[in-house]
Amino acid sequence: MSKTVLIGVTGCVAIYKTCEIIRGLQKGGVRAKVVMTESATHFINPTLFRSLTREPVAVGLFDDAPGDPIHHVSLAKEADLFLIAPCTANVMAKMAHGIADDLLTTTALATTAPIVIAPAMNVNMYENVATQQNMETLRSRGIEFVDAESGYLACGDEGKGRLADPAVIVKAVLDRLNVKRDLEGKRVLVTAGPTVEPIDAVRFISNPSSGKMGFAIAVAAHNRGADVTLVTGPVSLEDPAGIETVHVKTALEMFDAVESAFGESDIAIFTAAVSDYRPASPVERKLKKGADDAALETLELVENPDILATMASRKRPDQLVVGFAAETENVEANARKKLVGKKADLIVGNLVSHDNGFAIDENEAMLVDARASKELPRMTKAQLACAILDELSLALQ
Ligand code: PMT
Repeated sequence: MSKTVLIGVTGCVAIYKTCEIIRGLQKGGVRAKVVMTESATHFINPTLFRSLTREPVAVGLFDDAPGDPIHHVSLAKEADLFLIAPCTANVMAKMAHGIADDLLTTTALATTAPIVIAPAMNVNMYENVATQQNMETLRSRGIEFVDAESGYLACGDEGKGRLADPAVIVKAVLDRLNVKRDLEGKRVLVTAGPTVEPIDAVRFISNPSSGKMGFAIAVAAHNRGADVTLVTGPVSLEDPAGIETVHVKTALEMFDAVESAFGESDIAIFTAAVSDYRPASPVERKLKKGADDAALETLELVENPDILATMASRKRPDQLVVGFAAETENVEANARKKLVGKKADLIVGNLVSHDNGFAIDENEAMLVDARASKELPRMTKAQLACAILDELSLALQ
């Protein structure tokens, strides 16, 4: 079960960085939920946070939360950690004095979860003795700070008060939540996305893989301390920070990139949807209807090498090889066939349908190894990535 971080958002220009914090936490496999002050809603409409988190956003102390008459208490209990980012001087002052006059500060008083504050404000407000003393009081009560940075501030002043880098805040939260670092010192190779096999200059064979599943695994492994190489077909995702990302187009290019990284890897996870066949004689120009009808009507195909099966046949006893099986029916039986046929250590079988598998943020999968099959509930790809790595981490022990 993934951890829940309640993110308290207060009224400050740096609020736009909270979006990046939410994404970073989600990539770390964490469920993020937002509570905002009334002032914060003047900067950003709660709809944006509701869309990003896919969770209701809490604002007013007396708002009607369906089926939840004591909202601040349930929010307080739901949180494994309460992050307030950005946190204004005003909210820190209230918290230092136990004032609870809105939903955010009431929840802060009601929670027993660890609290992490990332302050952001004007330099003079930050350096004011009142603010410094309030921060000291909060620190002495065990509240952690991801301190503000120095630099150019929104008000035009220079100095300390800028919200810390979202990546730094995310790391601090994941560390505090004890997100595992069990892959430290391990090298993980991940394939992702589709391959694209050219027919001519403008046509190709491919599939709808977005790369989301593979990228989620690469990021989760990186967050757990692994040294990750990600080999990806053409996708529209940004290269993840801190991960060596190799871009390829065809299955043959993916084969070469994987072959050069496989020997050094401890774990290789093949999520890519590799085209099993490619056109035998791709043409560099555009084939023309009429003149090239013969070539367009009958496409001769040749089989691509099976990257996973080839690497698994070369694997050392200390290496783990994981494949995926995208199936439209009989997921378990087909996954087991691939486990044996491709000599993998684990196959992640997933049903592909209009609302599962390709190009969406959630997936429903089954882990199949030589001993058993484990059916997992529908979850985000970030959470599935964590579940797969949990399984591999156990196998490495
Ligand atoms: O990218 P997303 O939009 O997030 O979608 C994720 C996904 C649906 C692509 C992913 O979850 C998934 O199921 N990936 C495997 C898709 C697939 O093509 O499966 P397959 O049954 O054809 O291949 C089985 C395994 O062999 C896979 O691990 C595949 O990477 C590997 N393979 C297949 C053919 C080949 N020539 N070389 C390979 O390495």
